[in-house]
Amino acid sequence: MQSLSDLLKHEKKRIAFVPTMGFLHKGHLSLMKEGLRHADYLVLSIFVNPAQFGPGEDLESYPRNFKKDADLVEKEGVNVIFAPDAKDIYPEHFQTYITLNDLPHHLCGISRPNHFRGVATIVTKLFNIVKPHTAIFGQKDFQQLAVIKQMVSDLNLDIEIIGAPIIREDDGLAMSSRNVYLSVDERQSALSLFKALNNSQKLLKSGETDASKIINEAVKLINSYKKTLIDYIAVCDPETLTDIKKIEKPVLMALAVKIGKTRLIDNMILN
Ligand code: PAF
Repeated sequence: MQSLSDLLKHEKKRIAFVPTMGFLHKGHLSLMKEGLRHADYLVLSIFVNPAQFGPGEDLESYPRNFKKDADLVEKEGVNVIFAPDAKDIYPEHFQTYITLNDLPHHLCGISRPNHFRGVATIVTKLFNIVKPHTAIFGQKDFQQLAVIKQMVSDLNLDIEIIGAPIIREDDGLAMSSRNVYLSVDERQSALSLFKALNNSQKLLKSGETDASKIINEAVKLINSYKKTLIDYIAVCDPETLTDIKKIEKPVLMALAVKIGKTRLIDNMILN
């Protein structure tokens, strides 16, 4: 992959990179389309990164179907799929990790303490292997995007990071590879995330600027659905991810909810 990228750069080609963990859906396809708007060569990686899963999380059961993914992207303009083995990415005695001081300690980082260390490490490794000019990440993982932008800036990585909008099913559910875990009933309960975000936006528009009141309404709405267990609901500064009490400028509302055994996340900028 490194030699190929060197060759492409020698030929003055611009490389766009979409890192994924596979089991691709329309959300991923939108990242690829965005990539091709910014470059003439598109690299897709498929790698279920063990370092970003905690104990008891779904590393083993994470959905995988390489053949289906490869068939799906054939028409999408992907030039290369980079799909390494875990033993090549993390050989024995691997010991170097990337950590950030602040951003990982909010939102998802509270219940997933080593998650962003795993994400920052694999993304750095993939950047060093693929050597892209630009890389595209979805805004559904808002905190991940914030962590990567910060890391790229802090480490002077010469890569343009582009955030692409959340892609939703017709009924509003944010697309995620994990949606495949949901039973029919759970799929209904999963709609509560988007409904809570929309309701919060309405409350703010109608003049409610107290973040705790908006969060309480979201809690009530989500709890009224079966099999939901809220991990967090936060109203925070989109840059620093620190909590905001009174809403006076656009804020990020982010939430993580377990629906049965499936943990889903979603977010919206409220303004
Ligand atoms: O968003 C994902 O799918 C993963 O976190 C990423 C960026 C591919 C790193 O493993």
